[in-house]
Amino acid sequence: MSLFREKLEKCARENESRVVLALDLSLPAGEKNFKRKLLKRARWVLSEVIENVVGVKVNFQLLLPLGLFDGLQSLIRDASGYGLPLIADFKLNDVEHTNEWASRHLFDAGFDALIANPFVGWRGGLETVFGVAKKSGKGVILLVYMSHPGANEGYGQRVVGEDGTISFQYEVFAERAKSWGADGVVVGATQPKVVERVYRIVGGKIPIFSPGIGVQGGSVSEAFKAGTAYAIVGRSIYESEDPRKAAAEIKEKINEIIK
Ligand code: XMP
Repeated sequence: MSLFREKLEKCARENESRVVLALDLSLPAGEKNFKRKLLKRARWVLSEVIENVVGVKVNFQLLLPLGLFDGLQSLIRDASGYGLPLIADFKLNDVEHTNEWASRHLFDAGFDALIANPFVGWRGGLETVFGVAKKSGKGVILLVYMSHPGANEGYGQRVVGEDGTISFQYEVFAERAKSWGADGVVVGATQPKVVERVYRIVGGKIPIFSPGIGVQGGSVSEAFKAGTAYAIVGRSIYESEDPRKAAAEIKEKINEIIK
């Protein structure tokens, strides 16, 4: 098991939480001192939710204005100091040599895992990313079915295998997650039937991360009953007037379902 999985599971036990905070705060670039304000707000939200979450996911909203080896470093240090695993959600999706450098930079900067898109394939696509991750105990999480309505146009299409069998694209990706040694898969909470099917394919051995709860309409209860291991939650927490309370409520709701 990767160090990332160990850290995640330790944190889940200690915090009794299955909630990954998606820290997607944003501010318009034109606003005075926007970078300072953005970082201050992000660090505050994180400090409010520490005991109620199991990890933090960072997206382009923070990376682009703050910079990986610049402003983002203080947030990475905070998360690391709190013992929270940090996931880079830039959905790596390119050819080998650029994927490799992106993953090296993300891991060197302090991220524990990254999310990648299996559509690019193994050879010349994600093979090196898995190699870089394995060497350093970091994690790779694969998209298997996204949470937005258009996800069915790609992840939900029917594909014909070399032996003529017809499957859904997401079923193929769930199989690949197993054979490639992924540390997690992402399936939108908006698709509980897909969560259930993917859970059966990965045999409960690879944790399912489900975004789409709250604002996107996914049900916590349906997702966790179908096999979700961790909920990824953004706006319902960081847009709340009381992020601590919001995170605690989601954590408790999940704990009621899985107990
Ligand atoms: P909200 O505010 O809707 O944020 O709770 C959801 C978070 O999850 C991300 N997201 C996804 N990430 N695969 C991913 O890897 C997905 O299918 C997916 N859908 C949403 C989104 O970027 C945000 O951080």
